[in-house]
Amino acid sequence: MPDIESLLKEKRLFKPAREFTRAAHWNKKTVAEYRKLGQKNPTRFWEKMAREHVSWFAPWKKTLQWKPPFAKWFVGGKLNVSYNCLDRHLEGENAWRRNKAAIIWEGEPGDSRTLTYGELHREVCKFANVLKGLGVKKGDRVCLYMPMVPELAIAMLACTRIGAPHSIVFGGFSAEALRDRINDADAKVVITADGGYRRGQPFALKPAVDEACKGTPCVEHMVVVQRTGQDTAMDASRDHWWHDLMSEASADCKPARLDAEHPLFILYTSGTTGKPKGILHTTGGYLTHVTATAKAIFDLKDSDTYWCTADIGWITGHSYVVYGILANGATSFMYEGVPTHPGPDRFWDIIERWKISIFYTAPTAIRTFIRLGDEHPKKHDLSSLRLLGTVGEPINPEAWIWYHNVIGGKKCPIVDTWWQTETGGIMITPLPGAVDTTPGSATLAFPGVQAEILSEEGDVVAPPNGGFLAVTHPWPGMLRGIWGDPARFKEVYWSKWKNLYFPGDGAHKDKGGYFWIMGRVDDVMNISGHRIGTMEVESAIVSHPDVAESAVVGRPDELTGTAIVAFVTPRGGVDAGSQLAEKVRKQVTKEIGAIAKPKDIRFTNALPKTRSGKIMRRLLRDIAAGKEAAGDTSTLEDFSVLASLREADEN
Ligand code: WT7
Repeated sequence: MPDIESLLKEKRLFKPAREFTRAAHWNKKTVAEYRKLGQKNPTRFWEKMAREHVSWFAPWKKTLQWKPPFAKWFVGGKLNVSYNCLDRHLEGENAWRRNKAAIIWEGEPGDSRTLTYGELHREVCKFANVLKGLGVKKGDRVCLYMPMVPELAIAMLACTRIGAPHSIVFGGFSAEALRDRINDADAKVVITADGGYRRGQPFALKPAVDEACKGTPCVEHMVVVQRTGQDTAMDASRDHWWHDLMSEASADCKPARLDAEHPLFILYTSGTTGKPKGILHTTGGYLTHVTATAKAIFDLKDSDTYWCTADIGWITGHSYVVYGILANGATSFMYEGVPTHPGPDRFWDIIERWKISIFYTAPTAIRTFIRLGDEHPKKHDLSSLRLLGTVGEPINPEAWIWYHNVIGGKKCPIVDTWWQTETGGIMITPLPGAVDTTPGSATLAFPGVQAEILSEEGDVVAPPNGGFLAVTHPWPGMLRGIWGDPARFKEVYWSKWKNLYFPGDGAHKDKGGYFWIMGRVDDVMNISGHRIGTMEVESAIVSHPDVAESAVVGRPDELTGTAIVAFVTPRGGVDAGSQLAEKVRKQVTKEIGAIAKPKDIRFTNALPKTRSGKIMRRLLRDIAAGKEAAGDTSTLEDFSVLASLREADEN
C-alpha cells in the first residue's frame, strides 16, 4: 500500500484556470447537469452520450439489458468502429478532415510518417481486404504481436471493419506467453513484424512468433510488416509480407454492419490465479464509453496534437491511442521507442518538435524523468502543452507537483485517471475544466459511473475510512466476460458482493467526496502500471528444474511503484547464489517476458507456511519491504523460517 498517511494529509487544491474552463467542451455547468442526470439515471446519461458521440447505422431498441453479471448495451443497435474512427470524418461537414493528420508517428531512429484521415481510411480498407483474402470472416479472431508502428493501428481498424475481434499481445511478451494467448483465443491469423527498434538497436519479433506457432494448430496465416529489414525466415506455406499483400489489395471495403454487442477485441490481463484472463469488449458500449470520455477528459479539439505514451498492446493504447481519439477526429501522436534514447530528453524534444498539446503518461515514467533531472525538460520549449494526464497506478503527490511545475509550467490541469483493462474506459477522473484537483487523488467518478467504497460485507464505508472500491451500476465500456470462461468472470468480479463489480483495488474517500486509490488488495502486483499476477511468476520460476518452491510478492519501489521479489527454495543439491538467480530471471523472461523479471531474488530453505500449508504472503511482503514481520504469526508452522528469511541475502 502506498503510504495512506501522507495521502490523507494532502490538502493542496488546484482550480482549473478560467481560460481553460471557458474554452472546455465540458464546463462546470455541463458537468453539474451531467452529474445530476448520471446519478439519477445512468442509463439515460449514457444513451445521450451514445447519441451525441457515436454514429449508428441503426438505432438500438433497449439501452441496457442487465441480467447480472451480464450486461448488454444499446441492444439491437448497428454500427461499425472503423466507420466511426474514419469514414464519418470524410463525409458531410467533417469532410475537411480528409487531409487532417489522424496519426503522426515517429520511429525511434527518427523516421516519421503522417497518415491523414483520408490515407488511414485507404490503408484500413486495403488491409481489411487482405484479411478477407486470407479467409478471415466476421467473428474470426486475429492476433496482433507488433511494435509501435502505424501498421498496428491499421490492422486493428481493419479487423473492426470486417467484424473480426482482435487480440493484441504486447511485443514484450515471450513466445510462450504469445502461444498461450493465440491458443486461448483460437486465432486464425497472426500479424507481426520482422522486428522493431529499441534503445538504438533493432530487435526481432518474427522468430518469437515462429517459436510460438510451433504449438498453435489454429494459425493458418501470418502477415509480416517489414520494419527493420533484418534477415527474416519466411515459411512460404504460411507467411506473407504485409507490403506484398497490400500492393494488390483493393481500397474499396464497406464497413460491416455489426451488432452493438458484437465482440470487438480480447485483451489478456493477469489475475490472481492460473493463466491470464482474456478480457472481452464489445462494440457499441465500448465505443460510446471511450469516445465520450476522451472528448470530455482530454478536452480534445481539432487544433490539438494528443500524445499518449502507452504501447497499443495495453488497454490504454487501445482506448486512448486509437479508438477514443480517432473516433473524435483528433490527431493521435504515436512513438515507437523508449523515453531515454538517444538522450534523456527524447520526450521533451518530441513535444517541442511536434507541438504536442495533450500528454498522457504513467506515474512510473514521471518518476523516471524526475530522476533523470530537470535540466532535460528545461532545455525544451514545452509551451504547446495545455493538459496533462496520468494513468496506471496511484501518483505520489511529489511526482504530481513536479509534473505540474516542470512539465506543465504550472498552467496545465492534470487528469489522474483511474480505470482498468476490464472497465474499457476511464471511470474516476477530474474533468479538466470543472473539477479542482488535489495531488494523488483521481477525484470523482465520471458522470454516469457509480462508484463507492464498501466494506467486506458490502456496507458503505464512511469517509475518510478505507475499504474496497466498488462499481455499483453497469457502465457501457464494462467487460462482457472472460473469453471462454464465464465461471471465472463471475468468481473474480462479481462474487464479493451481490451484483456489484469488484475491481480489486483498495480505496477511500476524503471528506470532500474525492476518491483516493490505494492499490491492489489481491495477489496482483502493479509493476510500472502493468498488472502481473504473483502466481504467474511463481509458476514460471518453479518450471525451472533447479527450483523446488517459490513465493512471489511485491515490495514498494521508488521508480516502478512495485518491484517483484521472489523467495526461492532450490532443489536439493543445487547451489543457491547469483548463478541460480540469473537462471531464474532467464526462466521468467522466457515464460512471460522481461516485464515480469524479479528485481530481488532471495534464496531460502523453507517458506513460511500455515499448518494447512498455505504460504503466508503477508509475512513475506513485510520481509521483502524490509519491515519487521510484525503481524499475527500465530498460525505460522515453523518460526525459525522467519529468522532465516530475514537473513537471506539478496541476489
Ligand atoms: C489497475 C488496472 C487502465 C490502464 C492502465 C492499467 C491501477 C490504474 C490508476 C490511477 C491509481 C490506478 C489500479 C487498477 N490503476 N489507474 N489513476 N490511480 N491506480 O490497466 O493493467 O488493467 O491495471 O491499475 O490498481 O486496478 P490495468
